[in-house]
Amino acid sequence: MPLCQTYETYMKDQEIPIYREYFIEDVREIKLAPWKGRGCNAAFLQLAGQEGVVEVRVQEIEPGKTLTPMKMGVDEAIYVAKGQGVGAVSGTKDGVKKTFEWGPHSLFLIPANTWYQLSNMSGTEPARLVHYNYLPIALTATPDLDFFLNHPDENGGSRVLDSIGGEFYSQAKAVEEASGKIRGAGSIDYYWLGNFFPDLKAWDKLSPYRGRGAGGRVIFVKFPTAEMDAHMSVFPSRTYKKGHRHGPGVVIVIPSGEGYSLMWPEGGEKLVVPWREGSIFVPPNRWFHQHFNLGGEPARYLAFHAPPQLMINAEKLEDAQRDQFEYPDEDPSIRERFEGELANRGLTSLMPEGAYQDRSFEWEY
Ligand SMILES: [Fe+2]
Repeated sequence: MPLCQTYETYMKDQEIPIYREYFIEDVREIKLAPWKGRGCNAAFLQLAGQEGVVEVRVQEIEPGKTLTPMKMGVDEAIYVAKGQGVGAVSGTKDGVKKTFEWGPHSLFLIPANTWYQLSNMSGTEPARLVHYNYLPIALTATPDLDFFLNHPDENGGSRVLDSIGGEFYSQAKAVEEASGKIRGAGSIDYYWLGNFFPDLKAWDKLSPYRGRGAGGRVIFVKFPTAEMDAHMSVFPSRTYKKGHRHGPGVVIVIPSGEGYSLMWPEGGEKLVVPWREGSIFVPPNRWFHQHFNLGGEPARYLAFHAPPQLMINAEKLEDAQRDQFEYPDEDPSIRERFEGELANRGLTSLMPEGAYQDRSFEWEY
């Protein structure tokens, strides 16, 4: 993937690690380094499928510490890999703050141009957060770091906060939509609208996700003031989802579960990505990928969505012929590997035989 030079230079200038792998096995364990002027340890992730497209920063807040206030000219979604604390968001640097408490597996949005400050409430444990935004794309359009990191307009954040009123970080609400109208959702009937999702590991308000198989369920997340969105899929023990592909920049984080994913370019070799809580990976541009649950519990994965222009007809069912394959059409080695992995653990597959026989097989919900 061609890179954004302004963003590349900016990253290198921060003198913190830049991880350029296919996957991170546990983001809670990777090495960070002090980020000058920011009061925390941090690293950038530029995994193979996100390079030059989306930013991921991992930031750690020491026990009892509050970070330097920060403002960016792009929306930023934050997932809490570990720890608990308080967020304070305001329209201007010294303006009235909207505060909320976050904990392990929280997901929240910091709107573009608002000031925000994060504090770790624990006196003993560090907190680790995963920040996701579209900065590299934005810098390609406007290669001016100050425009995004140091914008003189002090009212941009206030406008965003005013537009949504006092309930900015209250509990998300379910919104019904005609089936098929939600970006990337296939046959989902509703999404959740809000800036704060307190605990994705415990979230149980899920909708059947019929299009992707395995009897999986999903929450589609929309943030009221952002074009960025996300979803979390939950799928049963000892099953696997249908293989599919799309564009770059979809960053997957695991809140809970145990398994692996396969990722491969058309006709190419399959890369195995083992995952568990804290893993992060990104399917490279147009590579097929497929998720397998080897654990005894349902597995959960949160997917931060790339800019819609890059999804390249991604997850829509009308593209299923080209961008998604049904179980009867998959390479037989896919099923063999899954059953072999389970056998190594003394387990058997719970995939119904009918799914391998009938292309229109439907799980019961
Ligand atoms: Fe995908």
